[in-house]
Amino acid sequence: MIVLGLTATNGIDKELAKILGAKHVIVEHKLFPDGESYIRIPVSVEHEHVVIVQSTYKPQDKHLVELLLAIEAAKDLGAQTITVIVPYLAYARQDKRFRTGEAISVKTILRSIRCAGADTLITVEIHKEHVLTYFTGTAINVSAMDALAEYFKNIVKDPLVLAPDVGALPRAKRFAKILGGDYDYLEKVRDRITGEVRVKPKNISVKNRTVIIVDDIISTGKTMALAAKQALEHGAREVYAACAHALFVDNAYERLLTSGIKKVVATNTVPVPEKVVSVSVAPYIAETINELYG
Ligand code: R5P
Repeated sequence: MIVLGLTATNGIDKELAKILGAKHVIVEHKLFPDGESYIRIPVSVEHEHVVIVQSTYKPQDKHLVELLLAIEAAKDLGAQTITVIVPYLAYARQDKRFRTGEAISVKTILRSIRCAGADTLITVEIHKEHVLTYFTGTAINVSAMDALAEYFKNIVKDPLVLAPDVGALPRAKRFAKILGGDYDYLEKVRDRITGEVRVKPKNISVKNRTVIIVDDIISTGKTMALAAKQALEHGAREVYAACAHALFVDNAYERLLTSGIKKVVATNTVPVPEKVVSVSVAPYIAETINELYG
Protein backbone atom coordinates (compact mmCIF):
# COMPACT_ATOMS: atom_id res chain seq x y z
CA MET A 1 0.00 0.00 0.00
CA ILE A 2 1.24 3.50 -0.84
CA VAL A 3 -0.03 6.56 1.04
CA LEU A 4 0.13 9.67 -1.14
CA GLY A 5 0.04 12.97 0.74
CA LEU A 6 -1.22 16.00 -1.12
CA THR A 7 -1.04 19.65 -0.06
CA ALA A 8 -3.67 19.74 2.71
CA THR A 9 -3.10 16.77 4.99
CA ASN A 10 -2.21 18.44 8.30
CA GLY A 11 0.11 15.48 8.98
CA ILE A 12 -2.59 12.81 8.73
CA ASP A 13 -0.90 11.19 5.68
CA LYS A 14 2.36 10.65 7.56
CA GLU A 15 0.66 9.33 10.68
CA LEU A 16 -1.55 7.00 8.64
CA ALA A 17 1.39 5.55 6.71
CA LYS A 18 3.21 4.94 10.01
CA ILE A 19 0.26 3.17 11.61
CA LEU A 20 -0.42 1.12 8.47
CA GLY A 21 3.24 0.32 7.84
CA ALA A 22 2.80 1.68 4.31
CA LYS A 23 5.13 3.64 2.06
CA HIS A 24 4.60 7.40 2.39
CA VAL A 25 5.07 9.59 -0.67
CA ILE A 26 4.52 13.33 -0.98
CA VAL A 27 2.90 14.30 -4.25
CA GLU A 28 4.78 17.03 -6.10
CA HIS A 29 2.81 20.18 -6.64
CA LYS A 30 3.08 23.74 -7.87
CA LEU A 31 0.96 26.56 -9.16
CA PHE A 32 1.38 27.74 -12.73
CA PRO A 33 1.87 31.51 -13.08
CA ASP A 34 -1.81 31.91 -13.98
CA GLY A 35 -2.91 30.17 -10.76
CA GLU A 36 -3.68 26.71 -12.15
CA SER A 37 -2.69 23.68 -10.07
CA TYR A 38 -0.12 21.08 -11.13
CA ILE A 39 0.56 17.76 -9.44
CA ARG A 40 2.92 14.86 -10.17
CA ILE A 41 3.09 11.46 -8.49
CA PRO A 42 6.84 10.85 -8.21
CA VAL A 43 6.74 7.03 -7.79
CA SER A 44 5.22 4.16 -9.73
CA VAL A 45 1.73 3.26 -8.51
CA GLU A 46 1.14 0.51 -11.07
CA HIS A 47 -0.74 -2.46 -9.52
CA GLU A 48 -0.54 -0.77 -6.08
CA HIS A 49 -3.21 -0.12 -3.49
CA VAL A 50 -3.08 3.64 -3.35
CA VAL A 51 -4.39 5.79 -0.51
CA ILE A 52 -4.63 9.50 -1.36
CA VAL A 53 -4.92 11.93 1.57
CA GLN A 54 -6.23 15.44 1.02
CA SER A 55 -8.38 17.48 3.36
CA THR A 56 -10.35 20.25 1.69
CA TYR A 57 -10.07 23.19 4.04
CA LYS A 58 -9.32 26.69 2.75
CA PRO A 59 -8.60 27.27 -0.16
CA GLN A 60 -11.21 24.59 -0.70
CA ASP A 61 -11.46 24.79 -4.50
CA LYS A 62 -7.70 24.52 -5.01
CA HIS A 63 -7.46 21.54 -2.66
CA LEU A 64 -10.38 19.85 -4.41
CA VAL A 65 -8.87 20.32 -7.86
CA GLU A 66 -5.52 18.91 -6.66
CA LEU A 67 -7.36 15.91 -5.25
CA LEU A 68 -9.18 15.26 -8.53
CA LEU A 69 -5.93 15.59 -10.51
CA ALA A 70 -4.17 13.11 -8.20
CA ILE A 71 -6.98 10.55 -8.36
CA GLU A 72 -7.13 10.60 -12.13
CA ALA A 73 -3.33 10.46 -12.42
CA ALA A 74 -3.14 7.43 -10.09
CA LYS A 75 -5.89 5.74 -12.10
CA ASP A 76 -4.18 6.43 -15.45
CA LEU A 77 -0.88 5.20 -14.03
CA GLY A 78 -2.38 1.80 -13.26
CA ALA A 79 -3.17 1.86 -9.52
CA GLN A 80 -5.01 -1.31 -8.53
CA THR A 81 -7.32 0.41 -6.04
CA ILE A 82 -7.70 4.05 -5.07
CA THR A 83 -8.87 4.96 -1.59
CA VAL A 84 -9.36 8.62 -0.98
CA ILE A 85 -9.14 10.05 2.54
CA VAL A 86 -10.77 13.47 2.82
CA PRO A 87 -10.69 14.22 6.55
CA TYR A 88 -12.69 17.43 6.11
CA LEU A 89 -15.00 17.35 3.11
CA ALA A 90 -15.79 20.87 1.94
CA TYR A 91 -19.25 21.75 0.60
CA ALA A 92 -20.88 19.04 2.74
CA ARG A 93 -23.33 21.45 4.37
CA GLN A 94 -24.91 22.43 1.04
CA ASP A 95 -26.65 19.06 0.92
CA LYS A 96 -30.02 20.13 -0.49
CA ARG A 97 -31.77 22.96 -2.27
CA PHE A 98 -32.63 25.20 0.65
CA ARG A 99 -33.84 27.79 -1.90
CA THR A 100 -35.04 27.15 -5.44
CA GLY A 101 -32.24 27.15 -7.98
CA GLU A 102 -29.42 26.36 -5.58
CA ALA A 103 -26.77 23.77 -6.43
CA ILE A 104 -26.61 20.65 -4.25
CA SER A 105 -22.87 21.20 -3.92
CA VAL A 106 -21.95 18.05 -2.01
CA LYS A 107 -23.54 15.93 -4.75
CA THR A 108 -21.29 17.53 -7.39
CA ILE A 109 -18.18 17.08 -5.24
CA LEU A 110 -18.85 13.43 -4.41
CA ARG A 111 -19.72 12.57 -8.00
CA SER A 112 -16.56 14.28 -9.26
CA ILE A 113 -14.34 12.32 -6.83
CA ARG A 114 -15.95 9.07 -8.00
CA CYS A 115 -15.79 10.05 -11.64
CA ALA A 116 -12.06 10.86 -11.39
CA GLY A 117 -11.49 7.22 -10.38
CA ALA A 118 -11.78 6.78 -6.60
CA ASP A 119 -13.03 3.35 -5.54
CA THR A 120 -13.43 4.18 -1.88
CA LEU A 121 -13.93 7.43 0.00
CA ILE A 122 -13.29 7.84 3.70
CA THR A 123 -14.21 11.08 5.39
CA VAL A 124 -14.57 12.22 8.99
CA GLU A 125 -17.72 13.45 10.75
CA ILE A 126 -19.53 14.51 7.61
CA HIS A 127 -22.33 16.99 8.26
CA LYS A 128 -25.06 14.53 7.19
CA GLU A 129 -24.06 10.93 6.54
CA HIS A 130 -26.85 10.16 4.06
CA VAL A 131 -25.17 12.35 1.39
CA LEU A 132 -22.53 9.66 0.97
CA THR A 133 -25.00 7.81 -1.25
CA TYR A 134 -24.06 10.36 -3.94
CA PHE A 135 -20.72 8.52 -4.09
CA THR A 136 -21.44 5.31 -5.94
CA GLY A 137 -18.35 3.43 -4.69
CA THR A 138 -17.74 2.52 -1.05
CA ALA A 139 -18.08 5.58 1.15
CA ILE A 140 -17.41 5.58 4.88
CA ASN A 141 -17.88 8.25 7.52
CA VAL A 142 -15.50 7.93 10.47
CA SER A 143 -16.87 9.47 13.65
CA ALA A 144 -14.72 12.14 15.30
CA MET A 145 -16.72 11.90 18.50
CA ASP A 146 -14.73 8.90 19.77
CA ALA A 147 -11.39 10.70 19.55
CA LEU A 148 -12.83 13.86 21.14
CA ALA A 149 -14.64 12.03 23.94
CA GLU A 150 -11.50 10.04 24.77
CA TYR A 151 -9.71 13.33 25.37
CA PHE A 152 -12.33 14.44 27.90
CA LYS A 153 -12.44 11.12 29.75
CA ASN A 154 -9.75 12.08 32.23
CA ILE A 155 -10.41 15.79 32.59
CA VAL A 156 -14.15 16.13 33.37
CA LYS A 157 -16.55 14.38 35.72
CA ASP A 158 -20.25 13.75 35.10
CA PRO A 159 -20.60 16.26 32.24
CA LEU A 160 -23.73 17.12 30.32
CA VAL A 161 -23.05 16.80 26.60
CA LEU A 162 -25.01 19.42 24.71
CA ALA A 163 -25.83 19.52 21.00
CA PRO A 164 -26.30 23.12 19.77
CA ASP A 165 -29.07 21.97 17.43
CA VAL A 166 -31.14 18.88 16.85
CA GLY A 167 -28.94 17.85 13.89
CA ALA A 168 -26.01 17.38 16.27
CA LEU A 169 -28.03 15.25 18.71
CA PRO A 170 -26.68 11.86 17.49
CA ARG A 171 -23.18 13.28 17.99
CA ALA A 172 -23.96 14.30 21.57
CA LYS A 173 -25.48 10.88 22.18
CA ARG A 174 -22.39 9.02 20.94
CA PHE A 175 -20.07 11.35 22.83
CA ALA A 176 -22.05 10.99 26.08
CA LYS A 177 -22.07 7.21 25.75
CA ILE A 178 -18.27 7.11 25.69
CA LEU A 179 -18.02 9.48 28.66
CA GLY A 180 -20.84 7.87 30.58
CA GLY A 181 -22.65 11.21 30.94
CA ASP A 182 -26.06 12.39 29.75
CA TYR A 183 -26.97 14.64 26.84
CA ASP A 184 -29.46 17.25 25.68
CA TYR A 185 -29.89 19.61 22.74
CA LEU A 186 -30.81 23.19 21.95
CA GLU A 187 -32.92 24.49 19.11
CA LYS A 188 -31.17 26.58 16.50
CA VAL A 189 -32.72 28.60 13.69
CA ARG A 190 -30.66 29.83 10.73
CA ASP A 191 -31.75 32.56 8.33
CA ARG A 192 -31.13 31.00 4.92
CA ILE A 193 -30.47 34.36 3.27
CA THR A 194 -28.28 36.20 5.80
CA GLY A 195 -26.85 33.05 7.41
CA GLU A 196 -27.53 34.52 10.88
CA VAL A 197 -28.20 31.97 13.62
CA ARG A 198 -30.44 32.20 16.67
CA VAL A 199 -30.67 29.67 19.49
CA LYS A 200 -34.19 29.43 20.91
CA PRO A 201 -34.44 29.63 24.71
CA LYS A 202 -35.00 26.17 26.19
CA ASN A 203 -34.84 24.68 29.67
CA ILE A 204 -31.74 22.57 30.17
CA SER A 205 -30.58 21.03 33.47
CA VAL A 206 -27.03 22.29 33.65
CA LYS A 207 -26.95 23.98 37.06
CA ASN A 208 -23.46 23.63 38.58
CA ARG A 209 -22.48 21.13 35.93
CA THR A 210 -19.70 20.86 33.40
CA VAL A 211 -21.12 21.23 29.90
CA ILE A 212 -19.42 20.04 26.74
CA ILE A 213 -21.00 21.42 23.58
CA VAL A 214 -20.31 19.16 20.60
CA ASP A 215 -20.71 19.89 16.91
CA ASP A 216 -19.29 18.80 13.57
CA ILE A 217 -18.06 22.24 12.51
CA ILE A 218 -17.13 25.54 14.10
CA SER A 219 -17.09 28.10 11.32
CA THR A 220 -17.89 31.64 12.51
CA GLY A 221 -18.27 30.28 16.05
CA LYS A 222 -21.70 31.90 16.41
CA THR A 223 -23.53 28.62 17.00
CA MET A 224 -21.12 27.54 19.76
CA ALA A 225 -21.04 30.99 21.36
CA LEU A 226 -24.84 31.19 21.50
CA ALA A 227 -25.09 27.68 22.93
CA ALA A 228 -22.43 28.48 25.55
CA LYS A 229 -24.32 31.63 26.50
CA GLN A 230 -27.49 29.59 27.09
CA ALA A 231 -25.66 27.01 29.18
CA LEU A 232 -24.00 29.67 31.34
CA GLU A 233 -27.29 31.56 31.74
CA HIS A 234 -28.81 28.31 33.04
CA GLY A 235 -26.08 28.05 35.68
CA ALA A 236 -23.47 25.78 34.10
CA ARG A 237 -20.23 25.73 36.14
CA GLU A 238 -17.96 25.54 33.09
CA VAL A 239 -18.39 25.08 29.36
CA TYR A 240 -16.11 23.31 26.89
CA ALA A 241 -16.47 23.22 23.09
CA ALA A 242 -15.61 20.13 21.06
CA CYS A 243 -15.82 19.82 17.30
CA ALA A 244 -14.46 17.77 14.45
CA HIS A 245 -13.63 20.58 12.03
CA ALA A 246 -12.48 23.89 13.52
CA LEU A 247 -12.65 26.10 10.44
CA PHE A 248 -12.45 29.27 12.53
CA VAL A 249 -13.51 31.95 10.08
CA ASP A 250 -12.18 35.44 10.97
CA ASN A 251 -12.40 36.02 14.75
CA ALA A 252 -14.26 32.79 15.56
CA TYR A 253 -11.78 31.68 18.22
CA GLU A 254 -11.95 35.01 20.08
CA ARG A 255 -15.76 34.87 19.86
CA LEU A 256 -15.69 31.48 21.61
CA LEU A 257 -13.44 32.70 24.39
CA THR A 258 -15.46 35.85 25.02
CA SER A 259 -18.64 33.75 25.21
CA GLY A 260 -17.17 32.08 28.31
CA ILE A 261 -15.96 28.81 26.78
CA LYS A 262 -13.10 27.45 28.87
CA LYS A 263 -11.35 25.33 26.27
CA VAL A 264 -11.84 24.36 22.65
CA VAL A 265 -10.96 20.84 21.54
CA ALA A 266 -10.93 19.89 17.86
CA THR A 267 -9.50 17.19 15.63
CA ASN A 268 -6.63 17.49 13.16
CA THR A 269 -8.85 17.33 10.06
CA VAL A 270 -7.97 21.02 9.62
CA PRO A 271 -5.08 23.03 11.14
CA VAL A 272 -6.05 24.88 14.34
CA PRO A 273 -4.53 27.75 16.35
CA GLU A 274 -1.97 26.68 18.96
CA LYS A 275 -4.26 27.26 21.94
CA VAL A 276 -6.87 24.85 20.63
CA VAL A 277 -6.34 21.26 21.75
CA SER A 278 -5.99 19.06 18.67
CA VAL A 279 -6.68 15.32 18.79
CA SER A 280 -5.78 13.01 15.94
CA VAL A 281 -8.28 11.05 13.91
CA ALA A 282 -5.55 9.14 12.06
CA PRO A 283 -5.82 5.99 14.28
CA TYR A 284 -9.57 5.82 13.59
CA ILE A 285 -9.05 6.23 9.84
CA ALA A 286 -6.32 3.56 9.93
CA GLU A 287 -8.69 1.20 11.74
CA THR A 288 -11.26 1.70 8.96
CA ILE A 289 -8.65 1.04 6.26
CA ASN A 290 -7.55 -2.11 8.06
CA GLU A 291 -11.14 -3.31 8.27
CA LEU A 292 -11.51 -2.72 4.51
CA TYR A 293 -8.27 -4.29 3.34
CA GLY A 294 -7.33 -6.62 6.18
C1 R5P B 1 -24.57 23.38 10.97
O1 R5P B 1 -25.67 22.88 11.21
C2 R5P B 1 -23.31 22.83 11.55
O2 R5P B 1 -23.55 21.62 12.20
C3 R5P B 1 -22.62 23.82 12.50
O3 R5P B 1 -23.45 24.02 13.63
C4 R5P B 1 -22.38 25.13 11.83
O4 R5P B 1 -21.74 24.93 10.60
C5 R5P B 1 -21.55 26.05 12.69
O5 R5P B 1 -21.40 27.26 12.02
P1 R5P B 1 -21.02 28.58 12.79
O6 R5P B 1 -19.80 28.31 13.60
O7 R5P B 1 -20.78 29.58 11.69
O8 R5P B 1 -22.18 29.00 13.63
